[in-house]
Amino acid sequence: MGEYFWNDQLEYLMSTRDLYYNDDYLEFLVKNVWKIDKPVDLVDYGCGYGYLGLKLLPLLPKESSYTGIDMGEQLIRKAEEIFQNTSFQSKFNRADIHSIDIDKKYDIALCHAFLLHVNNPRNVLKKMLNSVKKNGKIVCFEPHWISSMSSYYIGNEDTSKIIPLGILQKLFEHDAKCNGKDGNIGIKLPIYLSELGVIDIQCRVSDKVNFLDSNRKDDRNLNLYESLKMDGFAEAPVEEEEFITRLVKRGATRSEAQYQYDSELYLSNIFSIHSSLTYAPSMKITFGTVKG
Ligand SMILES: C[S@@+](CC[C@H](N)C(=O)[O-])C[C@H]1O[C@@H](n2cnc3c(N)ncnc32)[C@H](O)[C@@H]1O
Repeated sequence: MGEYFWNDQLEYLMSTRDLYYNDDYLEFLVKNVWKIDKPVDLVDYGCGYGYLGLKLLPLLPKESSYTGIDMGEQLIRKAEEIFQNTSFQSKFNRADIHSIDIDKKYDIALCHAFLLHVNNPRNVLKKMLNSVKKNGKIVCFEPHWISSMSSYYIGNEDTSKIIPLGILQKLFEHDAKCNGKDGNIGIKLPIYLSELGVIDIQCRVSDKVNFLDSNRKDDRNLNLYESLKMDGFAEAPVEEEEFITRLVKRGATRSEAQYQYDSELYLSNIFSIHSSLTYAPSMKITFGTVKG
């Protein structure tokens, strides 16, 4: 078996997380929405290098603790290295969510951009819920791809020419039905959690709208441009026939696949550091209380 995919994705993870939330919005969630005023034990499933812990722990009462679980050995090693240089109580465990037994009960089970990568998200959610104390919380930050794809605007371009939503909607739905992995899971989680007995469910949207400003020539603009590129935005498509064949296998008609190819090629040619672009990732943040 080849190298585990996510072990190679540290650079991608580290350079794209800033696209999603303003720090003041996370602080608003912790203090005004979740109203966490006592130390809590957190568990983060699919924690990667510990992004969520690094964002939330500074906002939480001292003595709070963070446990990160991830299948990627190199990601876990990086997380341990990063957290060693902080004063936060932390623990990391390299494990597959499907095979791990979680005996400990936590105050809050978290995940960020994780459930879209498992092919049986309802079972994984059950496991997450089993690791929460009675009246504890579950909080899932997950994407809603079609909403995110509809939230790009490049100056002076018709968005329908660069991001045709109809075909993407169809492809995402087809893929989710075929392999269970669902990039639109964010918008479905309120329903899934309710079916699993979670109460007081709310769902919010990430607040950040990124703005690449062609009139601004500084590091902030350059970093945003690089984050967008790392995120795969405006990536040149693979060779035309291969691209079309792949899309047809995923349920597109030949003419839809051709249109998608032309759009991706056009976008990859026009997008540069000199573009003006707005982009709202539109992550969905779903949370609720676990009855236990
Ligand atoms: C998109 S990354 C998100 C990482 C981190 N939550 C973040 O936002 O930076 C998805 C993570 O889920 C982890 N993952 C995927 N399937 C897993 C499984 N079955 N058990 C544990 N971790 C898993 C991957 O190793 C990867 O680190």
